[in-house]
Amino acid sequence: MDILLKASHLSHAFDYPLFEDISLSLSSEESIAVLGVSGSGKSTLLHILSTLLPPQKGKVELFGQDIYAVDEESRLKIRRYKVGIVFQSHYLFKGFSALENIEVAALLAKTSIDTQLLEAFGIAHVLHKRVTQLSGGEQQRVSIARVMTKRPKLIFADEPTGNLDRETAYEVMEEIFKYVKKRASGLFLVTHDEKLAERCSHRFLLEERRLKPLH
Ligand SMILES: Nc1ncnc2c1ncn2[C@@H]1O[C@H](COP(=O)(O)OP(=O)(O)OP(=O)(O)O)[C@@H](O)[C@H]1O
Ligand SMILES: [Mg+2]
Repeated sequence: MDILLKASHLSHAFDYPLFEDISLSLSSEESIAVLGVSGSGKSTLLHILSTLLPPQKGKVELFGQDIYAVDEESRLKIRRYKVGIVFQSHYLFKGFSALENIEVAALLAKTSIDTQLLEAFGIAHVLHKRVTQLSGGEQQRVSIARVMTKRPKLIFADEPTGNLDRETAYEVMEEIFKYVKKRASGLFLVTHDEKLAERCSHRFLLEERRLKPLH
């Protein structure tokens, strides 16, 4: 098993300290779930781990590279080709159709579209629709499909199924877990759903500025 992500001694504060001295690692075929109350810093941690925000203290290595020590171009390359980020609020191109949104991702990452995944996500029949004509849950599934189309080596997902009913949420997550195994990829998942967290290889609670392991 390869170590995909290694974070050491991360600390970060905005108006108040969010977390201090957090270390964690993630190997291929593994998943980490992070739970915690609103405002505890889960999204901030995800941004730091996923190339988007340099931590005030500490180091993040993805695929053996110190992502905040390398130059901007190398960091962008890692983000574009190896990392897939599902944001808490999704960012689809509104003037485009669902399919066009997914095609853009395939084009940028030089991959092809996995039609089976679109079927499994239950969005194959709405692909021709404009983003604004989709339901909130459909938009969320399209945005996850777009990220998966990049074939990321590491997936960062920030409450990816928050807009979905339980059954659909589990179906979508099942596909993501399958993908992680099949592609020897890794998943860092922020969720409020303890049952979903249990499907992950490791679970943590972000609380009192620490990342506490849950069993
Ligand atoms: N760019 C920023 N500038 C200033 N403060 C910020 C910034 N981003 C986040 N914060 C603050 O940091 C704290 C943690 O935010 P974060 O989004 O990481 O929480 P969270 O655990 O993801 O919460 P939620 O469950 O509501 O999504 C909040 O108090 C937030 O206001
Ligand atoms: Mg958040």
